[in-house]
Amino acid sequence: MSAFWSSWVIVLIVLNLGISLLLFLWAPRAKVPTQADGTTGHVWAHGALREGMHRLPRWWIAISAASFAAAFGYLALYPGFGNSSGRLGWTAHGELARDTAANDRLLDSLAQRISQQPIETLARDPQVIAMGKVLFADNCAGCHGSNARGNHLLGAPSLADDDWLYGGDAKTILTSILDGRQGAMPPWIEVLGAAGVQNVAAYVRSLSGSKPHDATSALRVSAGKAQFAPCAACHGPDGKGNPALGAPDLTDSIWIYGGSAAAVQESIRNGRNGKMPAWRDRLGERDARVLAAYVYSFSHGNAQPYD
Ligand code: HEC
Ligand code: HEC
Repeated sequence: MSAFWSSWVIVLIVLNLGISLLLFLWAPRAKVPTQADGTTGHVWAHGALREGMHRLPRWWIAISAASFAAAFGYLALYPGFGNSSGRLGWTAHGELARDTAANDRLLDSLAQRISQQPIETLARDPQVIAMGKVLFADNCAGCHGSNARGNHLLGAPSLADDDWLYGGDAKTILTSILDGRQGAMPPWIEVLGAAGVQNVAAYVRSLSGSKPHDATSALRVSAGKAQFAPCAACHGPDGKGNPALGAPDLTDSIWIYGGSAAAVQESIRNGRNGKMPAWRDRLGERDARVLAAYVYSFSHGNAQPYD
């Protein structure tokens, strides 16, 4: 503050505090002419109101005295009286620097843990989990759901069970997040025809325990089994899936797109191409590691996304 403004502030404070202090000291001693009836003799509203005289209440005097003490004490200890820095030498810059340093120490150790510790260890770190929860809500919940249980309509798989398209070890989860994934299930209507699609769908559903309810559907299942050969290339001869291709296990009654006859037929008829975006450029390695730890923790007994 320039010398002029410093003096200006001092003048204002002296006038302001000084005048109120003078009034405070003078008022209780001031003699006001009082009438015999205890009023000042002023009459208002054609005699309806008369002006009484009362001493200031003690509580008011006590509070005012305390306020003056606080004001002078503050001006002595802290900056406020023009350019005076106050006995304590407090500055806003100093306080900010102290807080920033404390925060940096905290973040440094967190950032260091995130970049150095294995994801399996991070998955048990409450600070990492808390950070993951926020990142997940902001970036992932839109498709995978706020409880991470997936969304049949978007083809976003549940991340909360321990069933994986590409593999559930920490490294594979991190790769899924950093580089994204693209499922490629070709359409089969041209190859199989409408009846063929129905047959194979019936067979696929039987793999996860859906029992044929009559002779026709039993025939469908056996016809479908014979037509499953081209599917085995990706889903495996027993339909157990192939994590290298992201081809899901068809025998476990966990479905990306739903397990109803209609949904399975639709998957086979027109194919499916679920796309998981890549997050490397958007979030960077550090946040991706946090998210991988968070996702890993769901199927490893730690935080649940809906905690
Ligand atoms: C636009 C929708 C969408 C968003 C947003 C999204 N995902 Fe995905 N994610 C998918 C889809 C679809 C798949 C399945 C890809 C496939 O079918 O091959 C998937 C697959 C995955 C997988 C592999 C699962 C497995 O079974 O192998 C992981 C892990 C994953 N996502 C984590 C995340 C995380 C963490 C985020 C937030 C940073 C996220 N996803 C954001 C749609 C999304
Ligand atoms: C080229 C490899 C490939 C072949 C061949 C293939 N699939 Fe798939 N299939 C996939 C992939 C990859 C997915 C996952 C698609 C996604 O994530 O969007 C999938 C998904 C599915 C689904 C959806 C599963 C779910 O959980 O919702 C069904 C059902 C299915 N396939 C059945 C079949 C049948 C039946 C055949 C043979 C007629 C077949 N697939 C042939 C790769 C293949």
